[in-house]
Amino acid sequence: MPTATTTTAVAAEAARRRTFAVISHPDAGKSTITEALALHAHVIGEAGAVHGKAGRRGVVSDWMAMEQQRGISITSAVLQFAYRDLIINLLDTPGHADFSEDTYRVLTAVDCAVMLLDAAKGLEPQTLKLFEVCRARQIPVITFINKWDRPGQEPLALLDEIEQRIKLRPTPITWPVGIAGEFHGVIDRRAGEMTAFHRTPGGATAAVEEQLDPHQAAQRYGEDWRRAVEELDLLALTGADHDQAAFTAAVATPVLFGAAVANFGVRQLLDVLATHAPAPQARPDAEGQPRSVDAPFAGFVFKIQANMNKAHRDQVAFVRVCSGRFTRGMTAIHAGTGRPFATKYAQQMFGADRETIDEAYPGDVVGLVNATALGIGDTLYDGRAVAFPPLPSFVPEHFAVLRAADTSTYKRFKRGVEQLDAEGVVQVLRNDRRGEQAPVLAAVGPMQFEVAMARLDAEFGVTTGLEHLPYELARRTDRASEERLRGVAGAEVFTRVRDGALLALFTNGWRLRAIGDSSPGLTLDPLPAAG
Ligand code: G4P
Repeated sequence: MPTATTTTAVAAEAARRRTFAVISHPDAGKSTITEALALHAHVIGEAGAVHGKAGRRGVVSDWMAMEQQRGISITSAVLQFAYRDLIINLLDTPGHADFSEDTYRVLTAVDCAVMLLDAAKGLEPQTLKLFEVCRARQIPVITFINKWDRPGQEPLALLDEIEQRIKLRPTPITWPVGIAGEFHGVIDRRAGEMTAFHRTPGGATAAVEEQLDPHQAAQRYGEDWRRAVEELDLLALTGADHDQAAFTAAVATPVLFGAAVANFGVRQLLDVLATHAPAPQARPDAEGQPRSVDAPFAGFVFKIQANMNKAHRDQVAFVRVCSGRFTRGMTAIHAGTGRPFATKYAQQMFGADRETIDEAYPGDVVGLVNATALGIGDTLYDGRAVAFPPLPSFVPEHFAVLRAADTSTYKRFKRGVEQLDAEGVVQVLRNDRRGEQAPVLAAVGPMQFEVAMARLDAEFGVTTGLEHLPYELARRTDRASEERLRGVAGAEVFTRVRDGALLALFTNGWRLRAIGDSSPGLTLDPLPAAG
């Protein structure tokens, strides 16, 4: 049993953690803001205030180079840095213009999200989809309106769009001085003071900030200042002030304005994360019982990635620590099998960079290397047994048969498909009619097929061909219904390899209804939605 001192120490470490992800549409500036945040932590490290990690910027760039080389965003890892007296974990969400189960799973491992909007474009489709996942999971959201250095919409119009379209109450923390495209700085709404931003050459270091009182700001920025103050008066009338309870209940969103490319507003974002974002909380187990952060170690696997580094053919399971202190070398219990699991190869990683870690606390992410016994959603624990709820399997809407172009590569093809299934890159379906050699891949978005094919090519040396199937809908069924559906036009039943579930696929909703009407009593249950 842990002593009182260690549980207090663990609770204190948990309270210092902020674990979040950025949700955005491609091109809104996610990579840029990630670099800006890393740069900030780095600069602070140089100043000696906290220990940033030297060379971080290089690490970030390397990681991006790897993604560019592959042409698709496939890695997903965590960037950890110190800010003030806090440890911040930024979990990367793969950024391609498509649904991806991967991205959704990352959102099961965060305590907060930063919704990044382009000032000119506002809410875009991918942001909306990711926001819906945050809403379903009640993840508090901070909004960062980016690219204020370029022409864009009116700030009040952007707030209105957030309120009307996603019914989240915007409560600005800062307010821009100068319209989008003429960005002078921001007003801190509570202090009433202005922070003027000055560019540094190439944005290579944190922006130079200058504090101005209202008198100085009015003198320097004249009309732009007056306009900002008028807008703030309007906001005050509507009561759009920060409300911590509404934010943590995910019904209000603090809003900040900035320009990640010039590092404007990034420190303010870090301050909001530090002051307002929730620290890790007790996580409910599969029975709904909360496991408090100072209970013995427990965590769950939210991502599996193989072959991250070509030099080491390996499989890494990313574990989000939910309770207790993780120490490298400890033996945890794998909740699924009850077997001990040795954690000798625990690493922290960001892209290609790896570093052995010795301990981790709630909110942190640990990469377990060569963890082939672990699957997505699995729980590891020490002390009192716990199993966290399984991660949601998302409802697939795209289906295609995959084949090895050259049958002599079939062995590797089979191994590769098994690997992609274990990682949850795609769902793999099989039935007797199509046979072993022609698995059907099921995906939330078609980009998942491209990722699967590119990886089979790059990592297993197998060229594949894809044949799209005309199905659009999946329903959960059972053996008896499978019998009855055999030979029915517009329907086909498969076994999902991952969990053995029987899925009936239909070409469209009309066909599904027609089949249901003509054969009463069929089991055709909707799959649980993401969330
Ligand atoms: P993503 O990861 O969300 O897809 O976006 P990314 O950071 O790659 O940014 C997309 C483009 O937007 C980049 O320009 C980037 O420089 C630019 N950008 C990001 N933040 C800001 C900002 O605050 N202001 C302005 N004006 N631009 C911003 P690019 O032309 O595609 O690439 P690059 O040549 O600049 O690297």
